[in-house]
Amino acid sequence: MNRSYGQCDFPIQGFQYSSDLLRCGAFGMDAVAQRVGTPTYVYSAEAIRENYRSYSRALKGIPHRVHYAVKANSCLAILALLAREGAGFDIVSGGELYRVLKAGGDPREVVYSGVGKTRAELQYALQSGVGTIHCESEPELALLRDVATELGASPAVGIRVNPDIDAKTHPYIATGLSEHKFGVAVEDAEGLYQRASEWSPLRLSSISCHVGSQIRDVAVFTDAVEQLLSLAYRLRDQGLPIDALNLGGGLGIGYATGEPSTSISAYGKLLSRAFEGQDLQIGIEPGRSIVGQAGILLSRVLYRKRSGRKTFLVVDGAMNDLVRPALYQAHHEILPVASRNSRSVRCDVVGPICESGDFLAADRMLPAFEPGDLLAVATAGAYGFVLSSNYNARPRAAEVLIDGTKMRIARRRETLEDLIRGEEAWK
Ligand code: LLP
Repeated sequence: MNRSYGQCDFPIQGFQYSSDLLRCGAFGMDAVAQRVGTPTYVYSAEAIRENYRSYSRALKGIPHRVHYAVKANSCLAILALLAREGAGFDIVSGGELYRVLKAGGDPREVVYSGVGKTRAELQYALQSGVGTIHCESEPELALLRDVATELGASPAVGIRVNPDIDAKTHPYIATGLSEHKFGVAVEDAEGLYQRASEWSPLRLSSISCHVGSQIRDVAVFTDAVEQLLSLAYRLRDQGLPIDALNLGGGLGIGYATGEPSTSISAYGKLLSRAFEGQDLQIGIEPGRSIVGQAGILLSRVLYRKRSGRKTFLVVDGAMNDLVRPALYQAHHEILPVASRNSRSVRCDVVGPICESGDFLAADRMLPAFEPGDLLAVATAGAYGFVLSSNYNARPRAAEVLIDGTKMRIARRRETLEDLIRGEEAWK
């Protein structure tokens, strides 16, 4: 198969081929690799900004807040970029709060979700002035009440409800079915709101939900919207001052060439129709759809080897850098950095880790890469670096943010010393 890489319907944003070289802004990926080494995550600031703005545009007719889901990519430079755009943040741990604050995010624009917040995390959130805390169980609400009382705080609180909706996505990233650990069943939520409304000092003012991630059909959200609205009105009838609904994140993106992303504007239309004229603030928590296509993992081919009837391309990026193929059988396109019109060969792209699950692509027709060639694992901006580890004592990759003619090393490559930081050998 001969494929022209000149025109690009690949699932990447902010990167393009020109003169047969993959570039982002003013920089060729060959120059980035030369300067920073490989494996390296490269992100396009322009694409991230554009995606964030697409949400703002799509929701401009209704009162809304976009809380970027930090878990998708918590690189400080990206958080700072989004904070400058005016984004709020959705966090799930004290660590994510720390990152948001370090990046200059406004704590009042932070919503805090998660099933297992600890006392220390709740204290940290209240002391930092986090905007809204979403609780996922009665004992968690009770702990928040106690911590808030101790600190003299009166936080805005929402209960995350579980709408029992099939998100039709990978089972590990579907969260809105009653069999999942998340949230409180809608039928139990009303009673819990009533009980907790008497627990001063909590201000029960919002309802949240999150159906799942990588959702391909916006219609999946219709049911969730209806359930949240109807619960909000029942609670208001009972005198509770519910003024905000949060629908979580979840819009899917294209990973395979030609595969469309779920439409942000169709999602905006659905929400605008449902919430127009309502005096409710709508919060959303997109992660993947803001950063996913705006990042690649740049890697270099170490060896090509044949084993039986198979050809393996051994590259310097591995499952510790990008675990999605191994963990979710996720598809990521593999693109050459220098596009030559070469013949294609069927191969597996694998890393150096001692596990057969360590692959970035399996059984793919790819250009005939040679050792030393650079390749880009596409659509790696979301749930890429954040899920990376030091498995096999591999230093974690560098991260680079490119903004037009400017390039920043957002995170330097880890060193061998970083690998043992905090450890003692007890010799
Ligand atoms: N809000 C809550 C409460 C969430 O649990 C999540 C994602 C989001 C927002 C953001 O969802 P997004 O817009 O990114 O779909 N590691 C998996 C994805 C896990 C998603 C977990 N929750 C992956 O690589 O596909």
